[in-house]
Amino acid sequence: HKHILGIEQLSADDITLILDTAESFKEVSTREIKKVPTLRGKTIINIFFEASTRTRASFEIAGKRLSADTMNISASTSAVVKGETLEDTAKNLEAMHPDIIVMRHGHSGAPHYLAERCGFSVVNAGDGAHEHPSQALLDLMTIREKKGTIEGLVVAIVGDIAHSRVARSNIYALKKMGATVRLAGPGTLLPTEIERMGAEVTTDMNTALDGADVVMMLRIQQERQGKALLPSNREYSRFYGLNPENLKLAKADALVMHPGPMNRGVEISSAVADGAQNVILDQVENGVAVRMALLYLVSGGEQLAEQSA
Ligand code: CP
Repeated sequence: HKHILGIEQLSADDITLILDTAESFKEVSTREIKKVPTLRGKTIINIFFEASTRTRASFEIAGKRLSADTMNISASTSAVVKGETLEDTAKNLEAMHPDIIVMRHGHSGAPHYLAERCGFSVVNAGDGAHEHPSQALLDLMTIREKKGTIEGLVVAIVGDIAHSRVARSNIYALKKMGATVRLAGPGTLLPTEIERMGAEVTTDMNTALDGADVVMMLRIQQERQGKALLPSNREYSRFYGLNPENLKLAKADALVMHPGPMNRGVEISSAVADGAQNVILDQVENGVAVRMALLYLVSGGEQLAEQSA
């Protein structure tokens, strides 16, 4: 079975294939009948052990637009709350012969664990602070669509880098595609030396914004850290919030991106979030196309390198 476990295991050719496939699927969502028969007869289960709006809805919509039978399970309404292990849950789902399981889980490596043990394709919809591959791919699709290329661009990622699976997947993806990545955030929320993965790192947001082609803002992952270490929202927004003033440091046509959910007034001002440079809802729109591409490719649609767990 093919899996999408992380960007780390993908080559630049794999990423290009996914983006090209997503581009070809994008048009389906604009049709009056928003459906193609590509995955007719396939069963997809979306199982989410953590909250989600965008990822969960778009994987379900993506599956339905490809004519697959899709269903959703939330951990909070499943037998997980009665103490069932992840492996037992997966083995019970496997007995119903799904073709693909899309999983979000709070623990890094949970999708890899399933991929090793179960006979279906696994797509990682976010695992702990590790990777969120479909998010990075929809981000790259949006950048490529707006800028024509990814190679040679300067991308500033600002916020809680240390706890962000979005940042980690984007650093892998952007570096593989030839972009320069700058990371900025408070010292306590920056990655350790080993996790910098070839990115430039600074505690000064202005340094990261200077001349950037793309500015990607991240929220503080309150759920992944002790509250005692967190700065106040006011203090945080003063040093690491994007507003119309500091956005001027980036290129005049810089893209403003955010994976969502946004905390308006904290990491991003409403003026910028709703401003002319924002492509935040383009990211969400492209999320459906990217997830259609991933579901198609793991189903054997075209040659995508196998990801081993
Ligand atoms: N960007 C993202 O993963 O959003 P959700 O948590 O709403 O899925």
